[in-house]
Amino acid sequence: MIPDSKSRRGVQAAQGADRVLIFDTTLRDGEQSPGASMNLGEKIQVAETLEAMGVDIIEAGFPIASNGDFEAVSEIASRIKDSVICGLSRAGAKDIERAGEALRKAERGRIHTFISTSPVHMKHKLQMEPEQVLDAVVASVSLARNLVDNVEWSAEDATRTERDFLCRCVEAAIQAGATTINIPDTVGYTVPTEYADIFTMLRERVPNSDKAVFSTHCHNDLGLAVANSLAGVGAGARQIECTINGLGERAGNAALEEVVMALRTRADVMPYDTGIKSEMIARASKVVSSVTSFPVQYNKAIVGQNAFAHESGIHQDGMLKNTETYEIMTPESVGISKSSLVLGKLSGRHAFKDKLQTLGYELGDNQLQDAFKRFKDLADKKKHVFDEDIVALVDDEVAAGNENIKVISLSVVAGTEGPQEAALTLEVDGETHTTKANGDGPVDAIFNAIKALVPYQAHLQLYQVHAVTGGTDAQAEVSVRLEEDGKSVTGRGADTDTLVASARAYVSALNRLQTKRLKTAPEAMVAP
Ligand code: KIV
Ligand code: ZN
Repeated sequence: MIPDSKSRRGVQAAQGADRVLIFDTTLRDGEQSPGASMNLGEKIQVAETLEAMGVDIIEAGFPIASNGDFEAVSEIASRIKDSVICGLSRAGAKDIERAGEALRKAERGRIHTFISTSPVHMKHKLQMEPEQVLDAVVASVSLARNLVDNVEWSAEDATRTERDFLCRCVEAAIQAGATTINIPDTVGYTVPTEYADIFTMLRERVPNSDKAVFSTHCHNDLGLAVANSLAGVGAGARQIECTINGLGERAGNAALEEVVMALRTRADVMPYDTGIKSEMIARASKVVSSVTSFPVQYNKAIVGQNAFAHESGIHQDGMLKNTETYEIMTPESVGISKSSLVLGKLSGRHAFKDKLQTLGYELGDNQLQDAFKRFKDLADKKKHVFDEDIVALVDDEVAAGNENIKVISLSVVAGTEGPQEAALTLEVDGETHTTKANGDGPVDAIFNAIKALVPYQAHLQLYQVHAVTGGTDAQAEVSVRLEEDGKSVTGRGADTDTLVASARAYVSALNRLQTKRLKTAPEAMVAP
């Protein structure tokens, strides 16, 4: 039995009138995003960031889905002490036992078990009668409660579930020992008034509803995930399930940074507290974007590059007179500091290390050494080195440090007189390999050279370049998305040379594909 009695964050905290628990599922629902994947080291880095920012519950993975997921949940459970660590499972005994095993080392572990309750899911996906589903609810929650004393039950596709049946399932789950009841809007279909009604109805009609914390879990298919989550809280939910940068299946989940800042900024109309240290939001966003290689859209609320930029003359004039004219929260409150000119080529290791600390990085000695060398090379090539340059460089270095395939050297013949040719040396599992290849343009030549050294079947789905800062000497940040057998991954690379950044991004995507191949098929997500 995994104890929950020493709860620093958890169910007890939610019982205060205005405390809303933040349940982060970046490592589970977020990782289900097409193109997003993380290796063990990256998952640990995300979990540590979430713990430091005050997340109450971290859903660390779906242990039955793969050995990698199991290992990630188990490792995170053994390291993280301040947040509750949660493992997802379907309703079957094997799933639940595997989740319990992964949580064995957790100081405070939670099993999150779910089954579909909507007519369309029960008939077509589960091929079960409602009474069979109800029996499965009782059996699954009871089994989970034998393994841990903190159990969450979810009614998958709850917002398209017949209400009488939803009430019966929720009552049965609480009766069997569930301490959190999650009402997912699995397909992003509901609207705020309807979602609020469901919570009000459940709290009024289910006799034992006061024995559990109700939770929101909203997908963003209609762009309503955050609005729906807040409406749920207004109607009595005291846990919000969300992800950093709104990562998640299809259009994603409710974004943690948005729900937290909405509650904080509009406390006058939504008097609820979260335990999140909002100054860590920008850092968490960068960590997740970097480890998943998922860029954050420029105009993304709270964490997008333009979220605090004022372009029009009228706005700039207003801001100079009083920042409250156009700013409803300060950039500092979410950890964004003004972009500043940083170090020059004469700056020493100590100043570089200090800068990294200000930007939120703690590197080990070897990584620091390599990052410092790359910084020196960059400062030789580039007149002004900005914070954004340092972040791109270090993210690239940290990601490459975990990879089996590495770019060692590249030279390219390009220009109007073809054929374009790439000469490339890669390190693959510790051995160096060199080749030359032609292509229809320099990027094609590079990708052909990579393919010659590391044969694979994946298709290129996306190739995208953006400049990290202004100026023709800016670093290029390249994103590459590859797809193989319905699974896609994204890799990212940065360099002042766009072609080197392209090679790094492609190689990074290939490394991620290797990790993704170890995952079981998506069917693992659907059957009980
Ligand atoms: O969206 C959903 O229904 C889920 C459940 C597994 C909670 O992610
Ligand atoms: Zn979900």
